[in-house]
Amino acid sequence: MPGDGIGKEVTTWGKKVLEKVTANSGVHFSFDEALIGHTAIEATGNPLPDETLEKLKASDAVLFGAVGHPKYDNDPSLKVRPEQGLLKMRKELGLYANLRPIKLFDELIHASSIKPEILKGSDILFFRELTGDVYFGEPRERRDNGNVALDTMIYSKFEVRRIAKRAFEAARTRRKKVTSVDKANVLESSRLWREVVQEMAKDYPDVEVEHMFIDTAAMKLIKDPRSFDVVLTGNLFGDILTDEASQIAGSMGMLASASLGDITGLYEPIHGSAYDIAGKGVANPLASILSVALMLDISFNLKAESERVIKAVEATLKEGFRTRDIADSTTPADKIIGTDAMGEKIVEKI
Ligand code: NAD
Ligand code: IPM
Ligand code: MN
Repeated sequence: MPGDGIGKEVTTWGKKVLEKVTANSGVHFSFDEALIGHTAIEATGNPLPDETLEKLKASDAVLFGAVGHPKYDNDPSLKVRPEQGLLKMRKELGLYANLRPIKLFDELIHASSIKPEILKGSDILFFRELTGDVYFGEPRERRDNGNVALDTMIYSKFEVRRIAKRAFEAARTRRKKVTSVDKANVLESSRLWREVVQEMAKDYPDVEVEHMFIDTAAMKLIKDPRSFDVVLTGNLFGDILTDEASQIAGSMGMLASASLGDITGLYEPIHGSAYDIAGKGVANPLASILSVALMLDISFNLKAESERVIKAVEATLKEGFRTRDIADSTTPADKIIGTDAMGEKIVEKI
């Protein structure tokens, strides 16, 4: 599901990687394509047509690009919007757990604006709750003849418990630390969040639990990224913190994600449709390609294939090839390549 803007450019390579890594392996994928976002509005008037939803429900996994278009970003009054398609899809598929790994490839240590000695070895796994919070809370409306607007930040214990459980379980397979991020000094929904996490912590005595306010977390992430292992947080805070954390990995173009629930798994870069670079052939396809690595691992349990994708990315970066977003002042001009050349390199390596 390519979606809009650079979504189309990068998913092309995600798909090619998926085909290449399973070629001659006895594993065969059959593909279907579906419309979403601005592209779907233009074709059908609906950002998530029923036909799309049916196709998604019938899939074992979904590779998604991005949605969004400047037309809507510049006109808040438009009622039908590309992002509604994305949010409805997450809700309808029950994708409540958004895993966003922040892994710095050693080769990219100079691509970030953070000092190398602070960054080196950073490896964080975000669990962003994805189907609740102020994104979906009701009421959301205009009042007072349109002069007042409101959204509702809301969480149930059930919603917090199911994402927290996934975060605790994941921490057990890693460095055994969970940082739960909230704003419990102000928000009632955050106090409920913290209560649930404190309660759950009792079942995981082997996992160190830290509670942190969102403002402090935003600061600590840049000051000392290595102090984080698993970060557990709500929908809005997780959205913001992971864009910030992309700078630990060097670029938005490096961050993959998995959205999981009870039906099918969906895999997508954390970045958007990036119309500032769309159509120019310069978008970094690695976030989409690394999303495929997550898909192979999580949805299909093809661990070796997943590892081969990651190794191909590593090897290409080691050879010095960079898309523009991850190049630095020491990158020679002939190593700065576009979307398709980067995609080709990865496919070749596989
Ligand atoms: P964005 O993530 O599209 O872009 C932010 C910045 O990062 C831009 O400068 C862009 O050029 C750069 N960037 C992003 N991905 C890149 C890549 N693969 N390679 C190189 N550079 C990359 O965020 P935005 O500009 O705030 O939003 C644009 C549109 O995308 C909006 O309509 C927004 O609603 C939508 N959006 C969609 C998703 C999604 O579909 N999951 C996520 C975020 C934003
Ligand atoms: C993301 C995006 C979406 C979000 C928008 C486009 C609705 O920013 O996937 O991170 O806020 O979840
Ligand atoms: Mn976002």
